[in-house]
Amino acid sequence: MKEIIVKASDAYRILIGHDLLKETGPYVRELGSVSSVMIVSDDRVYALYGETVEASLRSAGFRVFSFVFPNGEKSKNLEVYGQLLNELAKQALTRNDLIAALGGGVVGDLAGFAAATYLRGIRFLQIPTTLLAAVDSSVGGKTAVDLSEGKNLVGAFHQPSLVLSDVDTLETLPEEQYRSGVAETLKYGVIGAEDLFRRWKTTPVKAMYEETVEAAVTMKRDLVEKDEFDRGDRMLLNFGHTFGHAAEACSQYGLLHGEAVAMGMAVITKAAETFGYAASGTAEELTETLRFYGLPVEIPYPKEALLPHLWLDKKGRGETVNLIVPERIGKCRILPVKKEDLGSWLEAGGVL
Ligand SMILES: NC(=O)c1ccc[n+]([C@@H]2O[C@H](COP(=O)([O-])OP(=O)(O)OC[C@H]3O[C@@H](n4cnc5c(N)ncnc54)[C@H](O)[C@@H]3O)[C@@H](O)[C@H]2O)c1
Repeated sequence: MKEIIVKASDAYRILIGHDLLKETGPYVRELGSVSSVMIVSDDRVYALYGETVEASLRSAGFRVFSFVFPNGEKSKNLEVYGQLLNELAKQALTRNDLIAALGGGVVGDLAGFAAATYLRGIRFLQIPTTLLAAVDSSVGGKTAVDLSEGKNLVGAFHQPSLVLSDVDTLETLPEEQYRSGVAETLKYGVIGAEDLFRRWKTTPVKAMYEETVEAAVTMKRDLVEKDEFDRGDRMLLNFGHTFGHAAEACSQYGLLHGEAVAMGMAVITKAAETFGYAASGTAEELTETLRFYGLPVEIPYPKEALLPHLWLDKKGRGETVNLIVPERIGKCRILPVKKEDLGSWLEAGGVL
């Protein structure tokens, strides 16, 4: 088992290994003073792993409740969030108690936001079961729900008290969810892990889950410790996301998050090369690798459809948007770009 410590506003451990779900109870015991645990999960994940987590918590002596909602991004909304708050109050969870988020990024974001706000904040445990959640969303404390106007528009920074990353759960991931997680994984390679990126080109991520999750969350840990509230270097994690989010919105969220990120990474890298920021060959190496995993490398929407979403980008600062621009595989920079110039970036990336 690997252990990584994050020293953010609250320090916590990330444990990565096999057979960890069965040990949930003893690990929660180590957090001290918890008596009740609300397991939050979606219907698909709960059917696979709910019983194991619940049994472990019960045999460690906790009162255990569960809140299970329909799987998918459509549930990450204020209505389900409100139902969860009602359930927490109904079961009389106190500030000493704990929410356990068992699932992918949707579960983690929703449960984390409830934990950030119920009784002005209670502790929560992340148990990521998708590759995307294991390498990214379970660490760093960003929690949110979506509004009809856009994704992640209401949320809070609230760090988990513990992350239990049981890589065995990734074995049941559907192929498209695996691919979606691979896109976020490759992102780490481009922003700062050249050697790993080259290994992922020949050794599938699924053949090296433990090592991959450890490397990704170590990088994320370093960025979060330097810049917990996303005003500086943490923005590097946004590589591929500016154009990716716009594509996702154009698809009315029909695209998987990772597919959209893959397109966004390919387009910004091609543009970076055209404008002379990236070394020649960077875009080709990235697109080849994305294709190796069956990920898309072009945005199937015209510039005019994407631009309105880019102007609304919540990571924008007034008249500029911070683009994350590769210089080569393993190194990116944060480049403020005027909103009026985004069209030419899209064009340079092959989006007409
Ligand atoms: N907070 C952050 O820092 C952060 C970072 C990146 C993404 N996100 C958010 O994460 C969300 C996407 O997360 P996701 O891709 O994990 O999606 P998800 O949580 O919707 O999970 C994807 C699907 O896989 C199923 N599933 C999950 N684990 C499984 C398993 N082990 N076996 C079989 N099926 C399983 C789920 O039921 C769901 O249908 C988005 O809402 C995005 O905004 C948050």
